[in-house]
Amino acid sequence: MDGEQNPAYDLLFFYLKTDEMDFLDPELDKYAEDHTSPETTLLRELNRHTHVNVLKPRMLSGHFQGRTLSMLSKIAKPHRILEIGTYTGYSALCLAEGLQENGKLITIDVNYELEELVKTYIEKAGLEHKIEMKVGNAMDIIPTLEESFDIVFIDADKSNYAHYYDLLIDKLPSGSLIIADNVLWSGKVLDPIKNKDKDTQELLSFNKKIQEDERVENVLLPIRDGLMVIRKK
Ligand SMILES: C[S@@+](CC[C@H](N)C(=O)[O-])C[C@H]1O[C@@H](n2cnc3c(N)ncnc32)[C@H](O)[C@@H]1O
Repeated sequence: MDGEQNPAYDLLFFYLKTDEMDFLDPELDKYAEDHTSPETTLLRELNRHTHVNVLKPRMLSGHFQGRTLSMLSKIAKPHRILEIGTYTGYSALCLAEGLQENGKLITIDVNYELEELVKTYIEKAGLEHKIEMKVGNAMDIIPTLEESFDIVFIDADKSNYAHYYDLLIDKLPSGSLIIADNVLWSGKVLDPIKNKDKDTQELLSFNKKIQEDERVENVLLPIRDGLMVIRKK
């Protein structure tokens, strides 16, 4: 029997899914999720497939954050979205829900091994004409992009968050959004003396940079591992 149909995998999926960076009391977390629109059948399938078959499934945005990204995108009604860090494509599919009729989402990931899976799900969603995956290092690809973006979702290597921001901010139109994931880094940002690792230090410096940048207004949403929502003035 294929793992996709085996009920034993539902149990495995449940235990794998709970291994996440939740800050809320688990019961409150469940209540919030239960009172949030459900994932589409396809997103649930991708979520489950990723947890059962792909390394590091906790990287996937998941139900609650996915609905948040979808909601922000539907409010912003973007023509162009850039995502840095595709992984298995879950957040790309969520963000694409808000695209305008002729809108386009470009998503970049350095891991070529994910490309086939991502493309399969883009096709299953019928979004081949709207979502383009570029495989390579985002630091090399971003300078080659000619489009301007209404939403940028930064969800890749933490050491480059500030570089991605610097590469993009001047080219973005007024009113555009940059959303950066994992800015609370499992709470490590609260203790920079104890957490001297490079990623924690980079995220601390990124959060400070955004807070001090007068070109933008920002709100740090304590959703999952922390979403910094930045609006260019
Ligand atoms: C946290 S995962 C993205 C999760 C995805 N956005 C989601 O919510 O489902 C981070 C991804 O960034 C990719 N990545 C890391 N460094 C990168 C780089 N320099 N350029 C492009 N992608 C990179 C990794 O291969 C990984 O798939």
